[in-house]
Amino acid sequence: MSLKKYLAAINSQGAVSETALYTPLATHILSGVLHYPSKSYAINKSGAKGTPDVRILSGADGSEWIVCEAKLEDDKLRKEKERRKLWREQILKRGYIRAETFYVMLCAPRTFYVCDLDGEILEGLHVEDGDRELLDVKSGEHLPATDENFRRLLARITYEASLEEPQYEKFRRGELAGGYILLSQETVGDLQDTFNYALLQLKGYCARVFDRLKQDYRAAADELRGLGQTLEGTGDDVKMRRAVEAKIRRVRREHGIVLQLFEADYPQFKHDQTYAGTEKEEHFEEIFITNTAYVALSRLFFVRIGEDTGLTTRKISHEGPGLWRRFVEHIKGRYQDLIEVAYKDVAHIYSQLFETTVFDWYGHGNGELNEILERILFRLNAFSFKNVGRDVLGSIYQYFRPKTERKRLGEYYTPEEVVDYILAQTGATRDEELMRKRVLDPACGSFTFGVRALVPLLERSKHLSAANRIELVRRCLIGYDINPFSVFLAHLSVLFAVLDLYLEAKETHADFTIPGFDIHNRNALTFVSQADEMHAGAGEAQENLDYVVGNPPFVRNERLPAEDREVLGTLFPDIKTGNTDLSIYFLYSAMKYWLREGGTLGMVTPIGTANTETAKPLREILSQYSIFQIVSLEWMATEIFQGADIIPMLIFVRKQRPTREHTLSIVSGLRHKVELKEVVEDPAFFDTHVSQLNYRNWLNLSPTGDWPLEVKAEDMPVLEKLKQQPKLEKIAKCTFAVKLGAKAKII
Ligand SMILES: C[S@@+](CC[C@H](N)C(=O)[O-])C[C@H]1O[C@@H](n2cnc3c(N)ncnc32)[C@H](O)[C@@H]1O
Repeated sequence: MSLKKYLAAINSQGAVSETALYTPLATHILSGVLHYPSKSYAINKSGAKGTPDVRILSGADGSEWIVCEAKLEDDKLRKEKERRKLWREQILKRGYIRAETFYVMLCAPRTFYVCDLDGEILEGLHVEDGDRELLDVKSGEHLPATDENFRRLLARITYEASLEEPQYEKFRRGELAGGYILLSQETVGDLQDTFNYALLQLKGYCARVFDRLKQDYRAAADELRGLGQTLEGTGDDVKMRRAVEAKIRRVRREHGIVLQLFEADYPQFKHDQTYAGTEKEEHFEEIFITNTAYVALSRLFFVRIGEDTGLTTRKISHEGPGLWRRFVEHIKGRYQDLIEVAYKDVAHIYSQLFETTVFDWYGHGNGELNEILERILFRLNAFSFKNVGRDVLGSIYQYFRPKTERKRLGEYYTPEEVVDYILAQTGATRDEELMRKRVLDPACGSFTFGVRALVPLLERSKHLSAANRIELVRRCLIGYDINPFSVFLAHLSVLFAVLDLYLEAKETHADFTIPGFDIHNRNALTFVSQADEMHAGAGEAQENLDYVVGNPPFVRNERLPAEDREVLGTLFPDIKTGNTDLSIYFLYSAMKYWLREGGTLGMVTPIGTANTETAKPLREILSQYSIFQIVSLEWMATEIFQGADIIPMLIFVRKQRPTREHTLSIVSGLRHKVELKEVVEDPAFFDTHVSQLNYRNWLNLSPTGDWPLEVKAEDMPVLEKLKQQPKLEKIAKCTFAVKLGAKAKII
């Protein structure tokens, strides 16, 4: 009946436009004959280019499993040459095939083809003989034009078929070729949907497991508490005591995973996370779960890259899953097990990514995880990572860690403009000797500073072999971070940045491996100063670095656990005052522990470093060295660290005694981060925004010991004169003042 209605509708309206075909096609064929509920397909009503005419969603999981392209003339599909052209110029060129696509349906008024993703017709029919018959294009058989026959001839794409999820079955059997979407700068955005999908699924799963484990832990902790009390009450009864102790051991063994998680790993994670300023319990949990999901996805993603670039044999894509299933026929082939094998296989490329971390708590999981992994692997299978170069990987990385997500989780990463500026002003970018130097970011996050410093480093080392250039990266760039997830990301981002070199090195030496970059999970502050205490006087804790760069945390001391505040207080007695900001410890450590004599520091720090009482001892220490540039970022604070309420500045110091003639550049009045580049590249712009001042005179300018940041060379004589005059407070009383700036406040 529905088929008849469809034919009547197209006969009555005649050949008007493609869009006019969509409604009868959807109502009578998709809903009527193939049984899709109307919410299971989306019609491109406006006919907008770049979007398939109709997108059909699977009843099983709502994924867009079929894309449909409609043409007004049957010959456009029936003539092979025309059909191939349509495939090339529309389906492929416009990127209709997405990660979850399984079939492409080509329709014209009386032609219906179901194609695989290579454009081969799998099944199809023509309506013939005055609309009385259906021709099965595969067998050449003619059948009466009924709904049942139509459905039988297009059996793969009915709504019922979508519920059976044949696509996953085919993937499981290893019969899905994959790699339909060749990753390039143009298609890289498509990956984002897949990442979002994967993260949503993994996060949801991890959150459920976390809740369950929390309950298990509470029950186990209660039981252990009860047993502890029983043990206390046993008195001298040795036999009874032994029995209770044995029971305690058994309970601890049985609940080993949750006890490890909730008594060691998660509390440690929370402790370290306070250094990023996190305070609320629900935020700790969300960050922990999100980081877990990211680690899991990063590894899968890395395996896929390894597979496509030939670094490892296929396990989780193309024929891989099928081979695995045939191999483990006798046991239940779960993706969790397959992935574990894949990890072992790929770990030789870069083992640091596959070492056990605190984010491995969700364990082997259950059938639910199996299903989630299958769906993620299925989607990743659609991409080809064969040609990924440094640029594409860099862009993938941005999609992988979208800014909005970082912001929500309170991660403040430094924009590239600021990083590049710091590297340029420290002199690292232009350093002809950079290959022999060492650059440290002691709070490296995902190591933007390292990745950007790679650019001049690789430029200088063009004449070296790929293996030597990687070795250079290992030697020159050092990163520390207290957060294990940041460290994971830092390894991943440097690895991505040198992956093309890695592949090149592998071509010459098949057994080439990277022993690991100099990136470590450590509390940079306690690490150096404790080492210094241990080797007091021996000078062994000195790291002798040439450049220390970074954007350390602007977190107030009071946010840290009490015992950490105490430790820092004892380790940094010289600068300890009240509620010190953590960044102050970093600036101090750079001068005292990390830099060699003559080395250079370039860091982002709160503007309070220049004028608060708590930073006064640090100012006194820093002023004994050659500060050579300070940039106030007041006007662009919200642009560069959205959501952060502390105004940053940049400070550059050389670790050497300042000469009498030493000058300092004060850079002021910059409104946008793009202007940082202009300061470096445009001499006229530089002249209008940079004042070169005599260092000693500048230090002596303020009666209170603050560092004036808006002062210009021409203001100096006036300001120096004013300093000789009696202070205003002796003559007048100030009742109110207006502070202007990016965050105008009335005091
Ligand atoms: C503002 S982020 C900067 C990240 C990085 N510089 C960037 O631009 O992408 C500060 C980083 O410092 C890390 N951190 C905080 N306290 C630390 C400590 N004591 N030792 C090492 N890293 C620390 C945090 O985990 C966070 O990743």
